[in-house]
Amino acid sequence: MQLESHFTTLKTMRQNIEPMSEAIIDPDIRVAQTLPSEFYTDEKYFSKQMEELTRSLQFAGHRSEFTSDMTPISHLESILGQPTLRTMNESEAFLLSNVCTHRGMILCQESRDGKSIQCPYHGRTFHRDGRLKHMPGFADVRNFPAQSDDLPRLKLSEWFGFEFASVSDAVDIEAMMQPVTQRMDWWLENLHLKHDPSRDREWNIDANWILYVDNYLEGFHIPFVHPELNNALASDGYSTECFDNAVLQIGLANDADDVYFEIPEGSIDAGKRVAAYYWWLYPNLMMNIYPWGVSMNIIIPTSVNTTTVLFRSYVQKPELLDKGAGSLLDKVELQDQFVVEGCMRGLQSKLYQRGRYSPTHEKGVHQFHMNLTKEKRFERES
Ligand code: FES
Ligand SMILES: [Fe+2]
Repeated sequence: MQLESHFTTLKTMRQNIEPMSEAIIDPDIRVAQTLPSEFYTDEKYFSKQMEELTRSLQFAGHRSEFTSDMTPISHLESILGQPTLRTMNESEAFLLSNVCTHRGMILCQESRDGKSIQCPYHGRTFHRDGRLKHMPGFADVRNFPAQSDDLPRLKLSEWFGFEFASVSDAVDIEAMMQPVTQRMDWWLENLHLKHDPSRDREWNIDANWILYVDNYLEGFHIPFVHPELNNALASDGYSTECFDNAVLQIGLANDADDVYFEIPEGSIDAGKRVAAYYWWLYPNLMMNIYPWGVSMNIIIPTSVNTTTVLFRSYVQKPELLDKGAGSLLDKVELQDQFVVEGCMRGLQSKLYQRGRYSPTHEKGVHQFHMNLTKEKRFERES
């Protein structure tokens, strides 16, 4: 085919995408085509994706990392468009707007202890549950304080010590985490995780966030991209299971490796040498569960072609940290970034529009693409 007619064909394909939005990703993986490149490169799609993220539950942190009375959570600002402050008031945790109700100053720039929240601009103070406490110079102001002078609260939900933020009451933590709760009950029973800040990482990647998630959702690339990780896993030791809003990939330890979970009888995984449970939770959270503890990957889209990824480690058995499949965090990450950034360049090609899926290896990516092209995620039926 002439190059020119290639372009004409691609243009026609693009025009066909919009009206067929219900079936962009065919539910039958054997006939499905992958997500069209516009979803990764076009601002219009990016802003819709950001709206979707705003409606979902966002990981705020683990209670073991909130050691101060007041902790600003800066990564939530990029996703929710809202500076937030996590506070402890008596024994209750709150997630408040971190914006002063007087003239909009950011209240807390860093974690601190204290009885109340004081604005550094004109000294307005708030109780740690967000209620206005005192404002100098306002004695003559009528109808003050009103409810609108209190700090607005966001919804904060907890699941086994992990805290999640949402701007909507309609989202449900139990529903989101249900596949994990059901599968890992034996692990959750004995949980005593502790945040290890020395293992925090922040990666800035020149690629759209969906590419980062796509790459996470398949082990197809492991032999090609991660030779060291490949050696730590059994040769037939990788499986993928899809749930409505989650994907689970399981890596089994190879015969030489003795770092794997002891899984009790009665679990579906009993008898397997599981080295890692890799959970992806729609839309932008990865929870990697290793015998040593949990590595959370928080995916933060910062523009259509840039993404920040935060790693947070919560440790249960520090003696296992440098062993097995979970010991290669940084190396594996850099190898993944190489392919993800390469794809971002490739997706801008005029001669690439979309591809096909491997039914054996890319079920997780297919599930994610179907999720992304549906609307109104995580909202309860009313
Ligand atoms: S902006 Fe906070 S007291 Fe004025
Ligand atoms: Fe990878």
